[in-house]
Amino acid sequence: MIVTTMVRWTCCLIIMVVRGIDGLDNGLALTPPMGWLAWQRYRCITDCEMYPDDCVNEQLFMKAADLLVSEGYSELGYNYVIVDDCWLAKNRSADGKLQADKIRFPSGIKALSDYVHSKGLKFGIYEDWGTKTCAGYPGVLGHEELDAKTFAEWEVDYVKLDGCYSNVRHMDKGYPEFGRHLNSTGRPMVYSCSWPAYQEEKGMLIDYASMAKHCNLWRNYDDIDDSWESMIKIADYFAQKQEFWAKYAGPGHWNDPDMLLIGNFGLTYDQSKTQMAIWAILAAPLLMSNKLAEVQPHFKDILQNKKVIEVNQDKLGIQGTRVFRDKGIDIWTRPVEPFNDGYYSYAVAFVSRRVDGAPYPYNITLEDLGLKNPNGYSIINLYGKEKSTTSCIFNSKTPIKVRVIPSGVVFLRMNIENSNTPCTDHSKNQFFV
Ligand SMILES: *[C@@H]1O[C@H](CO)[C@@H](O)[C@H](O)[C@H]1NC(C)=O
Ligand SMILES: *[C@@H]1O[C@H](CO)[C@@H](O)[C@H](O)[C@H]1NC(C)=O
Ligand SMILES: *[C@@H]1O[C@H](CO)[C@@H](O)[C@H](O)[C@H]1NC(C)=O
Repeated sequence: MIVTTMVRWTCCLIIMVVRGIDGLDNGLALTPPMGWLAWQRYRCITDCEMYPDDCVNEQLFMKAADLLVSEGYSELGYNYVIVDDCWLAKNRSADGKLQADKIRFPSGIKALSDYVHSKGLKFGIYEDWGTKTCAGYPGVLGHEELDAKTFAEWEVDYVKLDGCYSNVRHMDKGYPEFGRHLNSTGRPMVYSCSWPAYQEEKGMLIDYASMAKHCNLWRNYDDIDDSWESMIKIADYFAQKQEFWAKYAGPGHWNDPDMLLIGNFGLTYDQSKTQMAIWAILAAPLLMSNKLAEVQPHFKDILQNKKVIEVNQDKLGIQGTRVFRDKGIDIWTRPVEPFNDGYYSYAVAFVSRRVDGAPYPYNITLEDLGLKNPNGYSIINLYGKEKSTTSCIFNSKTPIKVRVIPSGVVFLRMNIENSNTPCTDHSKNQFFV
């Protein structure tokens, strides 16, 4: 028992030393944040007379809070309700404070925050480190201390700080400063930064060590739109940059490839599984942006897949990477618990980029995936039926076979094992769809 504990600790310490990340120390976001964020699905629709069911007003967030609870999302970890742009009045109040649009948020932000809290959830808000928000409402620049205090007064739990209308070169200083104002309020608030996305666009060298030290999560790249093309472009960019980005992710500090599109218009059922799998591998925040009342049951099943959420929320907090591309199949892996004696368990996603219609058969040994535990692995098919989980053990030399449909995914979890019941019936046990 003691030996195991020591092995585990040694292992963790080594990881921490090797990765050397000095992360933001506010005790929050120890696993990637989960919840609901308005932007992708609701944008800046402010005409509530014309579009009463689709506009950014207090009812939208109250309803989201209701549905996170009643539809079973919150018990799986989706517990942040986050307001995005377009909540503000065009001007600050006479005493210089931020204020919500009086027509769309007649009860005010504190009342909305109270409502969200009354549901056992957490409340997030949006602002911008600039003179204006991206949609042209007042930004925090010049009012940082007051605005941080206002958020604390409103009992905000999460602040997303965008970067429009600002000097991109000064963000390295400005974002940490705003973080210090948040810290000074004494109220723990998750701090979501956007500074790398703006610097990336300008081709600047980005100080990710500073990012991890000052932010709980940060948007690295473009906003996501409601299409496969947009989603996979972000995934590809993360793969291209993984050598520089992945090491900065860990408990309390995460790369953020942007919101989940699942349940909307742009992704098919299987493409939705692919986004969820890649986001789980990337240790990405799971922020849905959909119309919760209209999410079809099979999409809801993807969002509520406990085994996939468990991969995303893995306590080790190691961001996975794309390790191999072969014959139009992208292979993504992420080390997860349990681990022992230097050997990790893994989540492995086979994503098809092929367009020839038939499911494509692909085989590979665990060894070629870098999985070399001498006692082998059990394999769980994360989107499969219960019976597609194996009870026997795969050693690193046995090939496993998958069949992946165009733009679909086969998502497996390979847990290290100590027992030794090898899989003998190859035709049955090695095949995953
Ligand atoms: C907002 O403030 C600006 C100048 O500070 C002023 O010109 C404008 O009339 C104000 N708008 C509203 C809607 O109060
Ligand atoms: C403020 O920062 C200190 C030092 O990093 C940290 O220990 C503390 O938890 C932070 N407090 C809040 C409210 O974020
Ligand atoms: C696995 O793939 C290799 C190379 O593509 C192929 O030669 C081999 O026949 C396949 N094995 C099985 C068991 O399908």
